[in-house]
Amino acid sequence: MKNSLETRCIHGDTHKYQEGSRAISIPIYQTASFSHVELGHNTSGFDYTRESNPTRQHLEETVSSLEGAADTTAFSSGMAAITAFFELFHPGDQIICSEDLYGGTVRLLHNVEEKNGLTISFVDTTNPDKVEAAITPETRAIYIETPSNPMMNVTDIRACAELAHRHGALLAVDNTFLSPYWQNPIALGADFVLHSGTKFLAGHNDTIAGFLSSADPQWGAKVRLIAKTVGNTLAPFDSWLVLRGIKTLSVRMERQQENAEALAEWLLKNPHVSHVYYIGLKDHPGFAVNSAQSRGAGSMISFSVDSKETALKLLKNVKVITFAESLGGTESLLTYPVLQTHPDVPKEVREHLGITETLLRLSVGLEGVEDLIADLEQALEGE
Ligand SMILES: Cc1ncc(COP(=O)(O)O)c(C=O)c1O
Repeated sequence: MKNSLETRCIHGDTHKYQEGSRAISIPIYQTASFSHVELGHNTSGFDYTRESNPTRQHLEETVSSLEGAADTTAFSSGMAAITAFFELFHPGDQIICSEDLYGGTVRLLHNVEEKNGLTISFVDTTNPDKVEAAITPETRAIYIETPSNPMMNVTDIRACAELAHRHGALLAVDNTFLSPYWQNPIALGADFVLHSGTKFLAGHNDTIAGFLSSADPQWGAKVRLIAKTVGNTLAPFDSWLVLRGIKTLSVRMERQQENAEALAEWLLKNPHVSHVYYIGLKDHPGFAVNSAQSRGAGSMISFSVDSKETALKLLKNVKVITFAESLGGTESLLTYPVLQTHPDVPKEVREHLGITETLLRLSVGLEGVEDLIADLEQALEGE
């Protein structure tokens, strides 16, 4: 029987102490290359760090264990992992994507993938009928974020997996916002899971990383070939940082969610706040679907305020919360999606989605929740 997720965050699938020293923390194998005993005889199983490295391998095995994947490749950023996913396809292939995606992913699709000959169809994937209507004989994959960045839209993973497979396509889920602690897309039928490891997995706003996990080892091998060829794998030290972050994933996720629930309730009552997008709120349109496919609502909240001036005042005045891009770490971060994470999304699309000058995104961290509430209060009251 498998150990609990909490235990696997700390030990992975195999409780490994290092041979020889029996070090508890996996060493950082800071080496570019590995020696060979003789031609054709490689004792360690490693050749060259671009391709594989023991520290990175331990991390990859840990993420595979947490996501229930057959294989995982660790990349130098979330964007590198997403790029590797799209490299699996060929000119003329059509990929159906959620219309609300991280702005960097949209930039990749418009500036690189369309140039590479892929047809990208942006669809409201919260409605499976719309996904089905977009399927063509060229459809090779459905690519979703659930919940999405920044509008917190929830897509039914099981329904999309069923649709994709019925039409001979694959389903990929960017699971960054919930992390494997709250949601495991492969168990729901997805073929690939992606992460910006920079966020909840690393968890400390101190490194950049990405993961692409595959349900099928054959796809995993194709991903590895791309990573080795393109050369965008994660460095040993960063691999170690993410491994260290993952050890506390379960306690961080629980406490961050508790803080987020309290903040969402507080925001709902504030007269300057016009809408709260938090999937833990019962009246969120995706509440039922999210509850059926995940174990929690996480700690990402987007909210709209009454004017652009109020939004700018908040960004200027917060003291405990930091006005910065990114999410998922111990520090609470307040982000202005329209200018920071989504400026490359065409204006009319942003407006259609609700990414306006009054929208803010809050990644709730581990500070005392009373301090976070007091901080928002003083920021709203200030000049
Ligand atoms: C949902 C999501 N996916 C992917 C990425 C890209 O990850 P990275 O910044 O590690 O390249 C981000 C970054 O914010 C994100 O929010």
